[in-house]
Amino acid sequence: MSHIELRTPLTVITGFLENLGDNEMLPFQKRPFTLMHQQAERMNSIINALLTLSRLEMGVAPSAEKPVAIPELLARIVDQASLLADQKGGYKISLEVDNNLWLLGEECELMSAFSNLIFNAVIHTPPGTEILVTWKRQENEACLIVSDKGSGIEQRHIPRLTERFYRVDKARSRQSGGTGLGLAIVKHIIGRHDGELRISSQLEVGSKFTCAFPVNLTLDKAVEKPIE
Ligand SMILES: Nc1ncnc2c1ncn2[C@@H]1O[C@H](COP(=O)(O)OP(=O)(O)OP(=O)(O)O)[C@@H](O)[C@H]1O
Ligand SMILES: [Mg+2]
Repeated sequence: MSHIELRTPLTVITGFLENLGDNEMLPFQKRPFTLMHQQAERMNSIINALLTLSRLEMGVAPSAEKPVAIPELLARIVDQASLLADQKGGYKISLEVDNNLWLLGEECELMSAFSNLIFNAVIHTPPGTEILVTWKRQENEACLIVSDKGSGIEQRHIPRLTERFYRVDKARSRQSGGTGLGLAIVKHIIGRHDGELRISSQLEVGSKFTCAFPVNLTLDKAVEKPIE
């Protein structure tokens, strides 16, 4: 089934429901329409995430030739996440990057994977949590590490986090509007870049998500050549 076939009916339904929910002149209650509109929007994000996943599953490896300015990309994501963090009551987000460390890869995909990890640290932890985003060379790897001092995740959930639709606390996660497809997408994207996603977490201490890439896929901007 093509993307258009899945998306068009839902776009029409969402459009009508939005109008009905906003219409002050209607002789009946607006609330059910507002709720229907929210659920249709939710279905829309699930479909989009599923389409992304199936595209990734079918797709060939990305042409890992383009140098991506990871330090700038991370700064952009942290700016966006900070807006959400402010809305949620404020977080302490810090960014530590090696400004010369770039990665060869697909910018859109990396943006989407890193966004999910950084947004997760805001969405799935309580306000006031300390979040640290690090991009650095570590032995034979280039690592993006998103760590938070949030509520942590019980050990038994960790191996299952990258499964489709897997969420630790179903009720709370649904409230947060997530689809539970984010980490499945992240794992795919990192794998397509010859990298690995590692997750460690401890209840009441916090969580750490590491995307480790082989150092031969990196570029040293200072000398404009690949790192040996
Ligand atoms: N930093 C974190 N701290 C605590 N729990 C987390 C953290 N990151 C992820 N989780 C848990 O892992 C689950 C899966 O995350 P995932 O990103 O796949 O889905 P989601 O964020 O719920 O939805 P979305 O598809 O919008 O990303 C979350 O629902 C949450 O329970
Ligand atoms: Mg997520």
